[in-house]
Amino acid sequence: MRADLALVGFGNVGRRFAQLLDERRDWLALDYDLQCRIVGIATRRHGAAFRANGVDPADALKAVTSKGSLASLHENGDEAPDTFEVIRRLAAGDAELRVLVETTTLDIDAGQPAIDHVRAAMRAGCHAITANKGPAAFAYEELSALAADRGVSFLFEGAVMDGIPVFNLVRETLPAVDVLGFRGVVNSTTNEILTALEDGQSFDDALARMQAEGIAEADPSLDVDGWDAAAKTAALANVLMRARLTPQAVDREGIGPAIARAAMAARSRGARVRLVASAERTATGVATSVRPTELAESDLLAGLRGTANALVLKTDLLGEIAICQLGGGLTQTAYALLSDLVTVRRRQPPARRQAAPDRIP
Ligand SMILES: NC(=O)c1ccc[n+]([C@@H]2O[C@H](COP(=O)([O-])OP(=O)(O)OC[C@H]3O[C@@H](n4cnc5c(N)ncnc54)[C@H](OP(=O)(O)O)[C@@H]3O)[C@@H](O)[C@H]2O)c1
Repeated sequence: MRADLALVGFGNVGRRFAQLLDERRDWLALDYDLQCRIVGIATRRHGAAFRANGVDPADALKAVTSKGSLASLHENGDEAPDTFEVIRRLAAGDAELRVLVETTTLDIDAGQPAIDHVRAAMRAGCHAITANKGPAAFAYEELSALAADRGVSFLFEGAVMDGIPVFNLVRETLPAVDVLGFRGVVNSTTNEILTALEDGQSFDDALARMQAEGIAEADPSLDVDGWDAAAKTAALANVLMRARLTPQAVDREGIGPAIARAAMAARSRGARVRLVASAERTATGVATSVRPTELAESDLLAGLRGTANALVLKTDLLGEIAICQLGGGLTQTAYALLSDLVTVRRRQPPARRQAAPDRIP
């Protein structure tokens, strides 16, 4: 089955996804009968290109880094399209699967422009997969209803804990289980900073390292002020607990250089400070928070060092279930998009092969 993809966003995650698609090309073909082709790439400052026969991501990377623009790759030398034109052309194609791969920058005020990109693609009959937290954190109810209405998939496994299958875990393996709440460490940058402070390193050095590795958000205040964790908390609560929250509704406190003293003091007492995201069902809804919290050393979350993340789900039938990632990064996030793509494929009816007729004796 052929899948045409448009990458909206071609930064750290979009580029790693394009590489991974190439690295796993044979697996996708053999195990899932899936032949993928990138037909469009759109960015904010580097223009956009669409080619019905496929855009080579290596050429796109060269064009972005050398010329600063994708315009030269656009087909027939037409006037370069904008992002929505790339989505329109994707939708007009004849591939059996047409998929928007959305990896634009997180906007913490309203989740835009990612929500508009996902909405436009699904309205036009395309599937939408994204690593951006905005759509699930701000518009989960609307977008999942739209996906159901149009018979397409809206998937966002990479939005929380990189490639660790949090949403897949609940959707695919916990039928009829009620998630009553959760607590977790879901932001890699702040966890790396907190463990570096315990080891006597400086706040600024740890943050600079996370930025150099492409793990910190483009605007690092989103990480240290707790906004990234708040967006993930809202997304988790909306999807797993049917809450209707935005990140702004999460009771939030971030970390700054002054947290060093508390981190060292906690360590001297055999405890640890971690930025804990939590949610709990209450009589009136779902109460959520993100805040630095001192944890006993025996707490699973206290043992998470560096970029490790973990989420403990409190459920009605299975008690507490924990899922850990002992080191996240770009490959894991790109993998989440790849796994969403395979989910889109798996949801298609099996290819109908014409059976050879029985011989009449
Ligand atoms: N990095 C990680 O480890 C990680 C992990 C989990 C989730 N995420 C999420 O994944 C997304 C991408 O992260 P990243 O690290 O790849 O970010 P990034 O390197 O800053 O890349 C963002 C890309 O989005 C493009 N973009 C921004 N606004 C756009 C618009 N209006 N239309 C079209 N393109 C637009 C940018 O274009 P220009 O190139 O022209 O600026 C850039 O190509 C973010 O939402 C982030 O929160 C990242």
